[in-house]
Formats: sequence, structure tokens, C-alpha cells
Amino acid sequence: MFRDTVRRLAEEKVKPRAQEIDETGEFPWDIVELFREYGLLGVAMPEEYGGGGADLLTSCIAIEEVARVCATSALIIAAQHLGAMPILIAGSAEQKARYLPDIAQGRCLSAFALTEPDAGSDAGGTRTRAIKEGHQYRITGSKVFITNGGLAKTMVVFASTNPSAGTRGISAFVVTLDQPGVSVGRIEKKMGIRGSQTAQLLFDDVVVDESARLGAEGDGFKIAMRTLDRTRPGIAAQALGIAQGALDVTVQHLAERRQFGQTLNQFEGLQFMVADMQTQIEASRQLLYRAAEIVESAGFDSKSSAEVTRFSAMAKLMCSDTAMKVTTDAVQLFGGYGYIRDYPVERMMRDAKITQIYEGTNQVQRLVIFRNMDGGGQ
Ligand code: CAA
Repeated sequence: MFRDTVRRLAEEKVKPRAQEIDETGEFPWDIVELFREYGLLGVAMPEEYGGGGADLLTSCIAIEEVARVCATSALIIAAQHLGAMPILIAGSAEQKARYLPDIAQGRCLSAFALTEPDAGSDAGGTRTRAIKEGHQYRITGSKVFITNGGLAKTMVVFASTNPSAGTRGISAFVVTLDQPGVSVGRIEKKMGIRGSQTAQLLFDDVVVDESARLGAEGDGFKIAMRTLDRTRPGIAAQALGIAQGALDVTVQHLAERRQFGQTLNQFEGLQFMVADMQTQIEASRQLLYRAAEIVESAGFDSKSSAEVTRFSAMAKLMCSDTAMKVTTDAVQLFGGYGYIRDYPVERMMRDAKITQIYEGTNQVQRLVIFRNMDGGGQ
């Protein structure tokens, strides 16, 4: 029932906007409003903060169904959960009560500010500094590629409180956009997910109170990793939805277009391609849903286990590789029409690419999978 409801909403209200969002590259506040109205922005956040109280699988289904028609719109749901996750995982009761209601009820957007110019895959290389002064910290540094950067009122910023301690010297802070010293730098022009705002954030002597720190000093890197364990399935769901959307329009096209006196779906060579697309999508879906169950069963408070970390990374890896393969084949099956903007598959192919890159490149996912499997050394 939930899937049907989201599918109807996506078909009726999101799909008609998808091409325009891509062409203009403008952030779709109308879609934020729509999702707020339907409770999707905080669908998997606890009810006590005004969220939907649903599990991870349910939020993955929401993201999947929206991504079937518009990847940018699906990212709005995923990014909102990403920004909230460090607070859900490591926030005190007081911090949760302070920050989560606005995020869960969609009164503000949230962001996760981890990546830096020299700390991408090597997230532990964080150079942003937080220097303690009494009961406050001064944060200075810059973050790049931040989804919802400059739009999100509440963000979790990772900064080093002790550079000589490496990953054990990183701490997490909740910072708001209106704090003195916070500014928005470059807004990126992207290949895909063009309506999503990806920005550089600059922190110049931003003073935050000790009470804005999540967990203890030095807990930040582990909070970031545990967050990603719980949010990578959302990106997998986005990728899966893109792939399913591409397959759906391709099947329809093959049934309509005629060449050599028959519809394209009567050519065995093309049938084989479609059968492979369907199989890859279904295999990816089964892995993702299993991963969502495993990650969900670990809860917000528990430490990530090797199984949780591995399944989350495997789902992200497989679904995003499937999305890239399926959308590339979809463009091929549309022939010349696949290469022009009047048809959605070229947008889907561009959108699919980011899912192999963000929330950890697929090379990082493979590293994580190996390190967290039997005999992998953890
Ligand atoms: N849960 C809990 N703790 C973890 C953990 C996990 N999943 N993974 C690692 N840790 C702990 C380790 O146990 C270790 O602890 P100790 O200090 O106690 O020994 C510590 O963290 C350091 O771990 P590693 O030695 O494994 O760290 P590393 O420097 O080798 O890095 C990495 C590991 C997996 C490569 C990590 O840096 C990583 O995930 N990089 C990718 C970053 C990423 O995904 N960025 C995405 C940005 S957000 C985004 O893209 C969102 C968007 O736009 C929508």
C-alpha cells in the first residue's frame, strides 16, 4: 500500500517536473513542500520528533519509487535522512529534542558536511579544525560537494579537534547556516542530479557551544562511518529506482518502435539485453531489501557490526553498478532517440553516474566489503 501511494504521488506530481528540474538545474522547493505534506522527509525518523516512525526498508521503497521518475527528487528524501542520522546515532536526548523536530517534520533541510578538497575518499584526512576555548569551539575550514549546502539550515560538520590523533581526533558538531562565519562558496554545475544543490561551505571562526558537539571529542569519525552504514542503502534505493525507471520506459519503447517490419521487442538480441536488465535489477533489489533489514535490526544506538557495514556497502555497490549498466543499455536500446533530451533515458544515465561516486565511491565500497568479510582483516 505504501509503495502504491508513493508511486502514484511520484507519477502524478513528480514525473511531470523531472525534465524541467534537470534542464533548469533549479532546486525544486515545490517537491520539498510536497514531500513535507506527505511526511516523506522524515519518513524513517522516530515519531516522537514528528517523523513517520517507519523502518529503513520503507524509506528505501519511498526513495526507490521517487527515483523511478526523478533522481533529484529522491535525493531530497535521502539527504534529509543523512543530515539527521549523526544526531539520531550520537545525539543526547536534549540535542535530539533541539534539532530533530524541524528536520523530521521538514521545516528545514539538513546536510552532512564531511567531504573536503583533500579529504574525499580519505575522510579521515579532515583538515577543518575545531579549537576548544572554554566551553566553546572555533571552527575554521572548508567543505566541498555538500548536498543541500547553502539550503540546509541544520548541518553536521566534522572537524579535527586533535590533528595528531588522525581519525580518533575528529569530532562532530551541529552548526546552523545562520551562524556568524558560515558562508556558501561555489555551487557546482553537475552532470546529473542537476536540481540538487551541491555546494562548498566555508567556516571562518565559527563559534559553537560545547553543547553542539555530538558524542565525545574524537568520536566524529566513527559517527560518520556509522551514519554512512545506515544511509548507503538509501543511495542504493535511489540507484535501483533509476534503473527500474529506465527499464520501464525502455520496455514501452521497444513495444512501440518498429524497424524491419516488426516491433523492436521481437528481436531476440534486444530481448536478451532486456532480460539481463530485469535480472540485474531484481538481484540488486533483493540484496538491498536484505541489507535494509539487517541495518534496521542494528538500531540507531548500537555500534555497527561487520555484517551491517558489509551489507550496506554491498547494496550500494551493486545497485549503483546496476543503475549505470541498465541506463547505459537503455540509451543504447533507444538508439538515436536515447541520446537526445526529449526522452528521459539520457537524464537517467547521467543521474545514475553519481550513485557510483557519492556516499563513498564504489572503490571505497569494495574496500569496506573486503575489510568486513571473513578473512578480510577486521
Ligand atoms: N563503524 C564504526 N566504526 C568504524 C567503521 C564503521 N563502519 N568503519 C571504520 N570504523 C572505525 C575503525 O574501527 C577504526 O577505529 P579505531 O580507531 O578504534 O581502530 C577507525 O574507524 C578508523 O577506521 P579505518 O582505519 O578503517 O579508516 P580509514 O582511514 O582506513 O578509512 C574508509 C576508511 C572506509 C576509506 C573511510 O574513510 C570512508 O568511508 N571513506 C569514504 C567517505 C565517504 O563515504 N564519503 C561520503 C560523503 S557523504 C555523501 O557523499 C553524501 C551525499 O552527497 C549525498
